[in-house]
Amino acid sequence: MADISALNLRFGIPGHVTFRDAPGGLAVVEVANNVANATIALQGAHVTNWTPNAAEPVIWLSPAAKFATGKSIRGGVPICWPWFGPHATESAFPGHGFARTVPWEVTEATMLPGGATRLTFRLIENEVTRAQWPHAVQVENHVTVGETLEFDLATRNLGNKEITIGDALHTYFKVGDVRRISIHGLEDCSYLDKVDGGSSKRQSGLVTIMAETDRIYIESTNDCLIDDPVLRRRIRITKRGSRTTVVWNPWIEKAAKMGDFGDNGYLGMVCVESANAANDVVKIAPGGTHHLWVRYQVEPSA
Ligand code: BG6
Repeated sequence: MADISALNLRFGIPGHVTFRDAPGGLAVVEVANNVANATIALQGAHVTNWTPNAAEPVIWLSPAAKFATGKSIRGGVPICWPWFGPHATESAFPGHGFARTVPWEVTEATMLPGGATRLTFRLIENEVTRAQWPHAVQVENHVTVGETLEFDLATRNLGNKEITIGDALHTYFKVGDVRRISIHGLEDCSYLDKVDGGSSKRQSGLVTIMAETDRIYIESTNDCLIDDPVLRRRIRITKRGSRTTVVWNPWIEKAAKMGDFGDNGYLGMVCVESANAANDVVKIAPGGTHHLWVRYQVEPSA
């Protein structure tokens, strides 16, 4: 268990960066600065809230989310790493990798000149992760909480052989009514439709969601915009080091089966994930670092 007093002594910034115990034996860090506030669980380096000043929360956290050691939190920004989806050969290994369910240590908390706060988390390996991922790496999640929310998920290969990873920021965005949003930026992209046996299709026009949706858009590097007429805002997603975008909403039956979505929770969220998934895996040479960099920004409706 994290030593909250030691964390506050070492990384706390009075009034701005505060570590505290959370349900289920988890520890979180609360960030409050002049431009935004955020909450990040040390398990998974998992952002569960980001609210820029004068805005509604941008990140969706399920009202029925379960907080427990070793379990992924439903909502927020889970980190998928070092593979996306099911493991390629080992069905017993956890879906989306293990990064989201292990503790990460804090290595930095800094107030930046423009008013934002940067925190750095480093994944802590254990016997299980080493058995599932026998490679020498350093994985850091640099999170910058400001008027925008930025992530730099950096994977450094410390070994002497090339490694291959898949990764994603599996972000759940809060929307007014998923049936009324449109997602811009994926027009004409090819995608694998996971609700239609993984068949390959091409996006025609904007993405709208009126049923279970689980799509892996390949070769998609443009900004995406979630246009939300109900909350009267657009969320802009800008990314580098990611060639895949995943759009997911479980809809009614799947959400009910999951048991941690809450009643009608699926209507208030959409995942637009900046990823390297399916065939788009990343090879990292010895000594090299791969950065999955993503920025979220709220804009008024057009
Ligand atoms: C999405 C996948 O990224 O994550 C879906 O494309 C999956 O297939 C969803 O159902 C949620 O995954 P999990 O492991 O968090 O329930």
